[in-house]
Amino acid sequence: MNDIIQIAKAQAAPPCTVVIFGASGDLSKRKLIPALYNLHACGPEIAPDNYAVLGFARRPIAVEEFRAGAREAAARFSRLELDDARWREFSSRLDYLAGLDQPDGFRRLKARLEAIEAARGLPPNRIYYLSVPPEAIAECAGRLAEAGLVARPGAANFTRLVVEKPIGSDLESALKVDGALRRHFDESQIFRIDHYLGKETVQNLMVLRFANSIFERMWGARNVDHVQITVAESEGVGARALYYDPAGALRDMVQNHLLQLLALIAMDPPVSLDAGAIRDAKLNVLRALRRLAPGAARSLVVRARYGPGNVDGQAVRGYAQEPGVPAASRTETFVALKAYIDNWRWSGVPFYLRTGKRMPARGSVIRVQFKDVPRILFNRERQLPPNALTIRIQPDEGFSFEVLAKQPGLDIAIRPVRMNLRYESEFSGPSPDAYERLLLDVMIGDRTLFVSANFVGKSWEFVQSILDQWSAGPELPLYEYPAGSHGPEAAERLIAEDGRAWFNP
Ligand code: BG6
Repeated sequence: MNDIIQIAKAQAAPPCTVVIFGASGDLSKRKLIPALYNLHACGPEIAPDNYAVLGFARRPIAVEEFRAGAREAAARFSRLELDDARWREFSSRLDYLAGLDQPDGFRRLKARLEAIEAARGLPPNRIYYLSVPPEAIAECAGRLAEAGLVARPGAANFTRLVVEKPIGSDLESALKVDGALRRHFDESQIFRIDHYLGKETVQNLMVLRFANSIFERMWGARNVDHVQITVAESEGVGARALYYDPAGALRDMVQNHLLQLLALIAMDPPVSLDAGAIRDAKLNVLRALRRLAPGAARSLVVRARYGPGNVDGQAVRGYAQEPGVPAASRTETFVALKAYIDNWRWSGVPFYLRTGKRMPARGSVIRVQFKDVPRILFNRERQLPPNALTIRIQPDEGFSFEVLAKQPGLDIAIRPVRMNLRYESEFSGPSPDAYERLLLDVMIGDRTLFVSANFVGKSWEFVQSILDQWSAGPELPLYEYPAGSHGPEAAERLIAEDGRAWFNP
């Protein structure tokens, strides 16, 4: 039972320099610096034996101040406790350069990189992590190329560009950004991050589906009644209105995280574990994802925003009252929709997707509900609850399989029971953070968990079919739900009309 079948060993990363564009920003503090520190703390089996991290941003600050800020961030957000000796080693590799917005900023970046590489004996393997506002992505890519900071693909030393979502704000702008990236970088050099793909439970989806024989045989229209994907957050928009208000839940969550989960749960078995094969299999799901027919947004998509309410016993304000939200805002913080995948496997099976801020609790769950047994034998009198596989992406990572069992006793009484796997009790030690996995993969050059240009395009095509109807029909309702609820009534109706109900994590 305890045999571990090692499929691939985590590789040590090659020597390189990671440049964080926008290093004084939130992502850098919350995710990137802690992840890089954790990789360092993994020791030489994982961390490169020689590397440097260069923060590049607008604000002029001294290196010491940058290091102190990084320490504070790592102490607060790192999964591993900070160890003084390790931190000293790590922080000696941190450097900082201001001038991201200056005309000669990229020339200075080049000079600084060369100086760091010379001083540390590093080869010019360079990773540029763009943690900048979406509208600055294309410009940064262009300026890197102009400054002679992009090596040819296949050159002895690598250049890799990491881009965060959102890529574009609609199909047209996404294609434009992509065009700009590809003018200066080869597709093999571009790593588009969707951090959901780095989550341990999301990586487990493929193992669950394709390393076990029982699921694959049941996976499709013949046995599955429907699939639900919920990504619920209890947090509100916080201080992010400037980014969030022009985006909204459809662009912020559905276009990327939810469609990634959909692709992984619905894809056919890839022909191999190669990045290309997996990406193709996922892309095929989006190719078959039915675009909204004209007028269908009214019946298939519900949008809403949170009003004042209570979360965790605390009174919280509504979205419209959040700091920085414009008075005329019509931005949705919640989306529920029904989608279909028009291929042989999934023909006719509804996929219900739902995401929202200020829901009662944080919980991302995929639920595959199987068809009812025939209405004979035990099912004759009353419809029995169906079997369901519930995959908990976060928190309380794990999955459960719901079946029916006879309750012990002289009667024949049937009760649903759960076969439950909890990561916490089954596996020892905390899982690496998604960003650790993804940063390591960028260093190694493994593109499996990154988003292809085609996937970005196809996901925007689907989302655009909704956006078009929203903009052409301003009368389509934007519902309000009390903060701390599961969303508006209309979302309940969306699924109840089909004789089904949401599963609330
Ligand atoms: C980000 C979104 O991509 O994902 C945020 O921009 C959201 O709005 C976040 O809160 C959720 O990520 P996680 O890992 O906390 O589920």
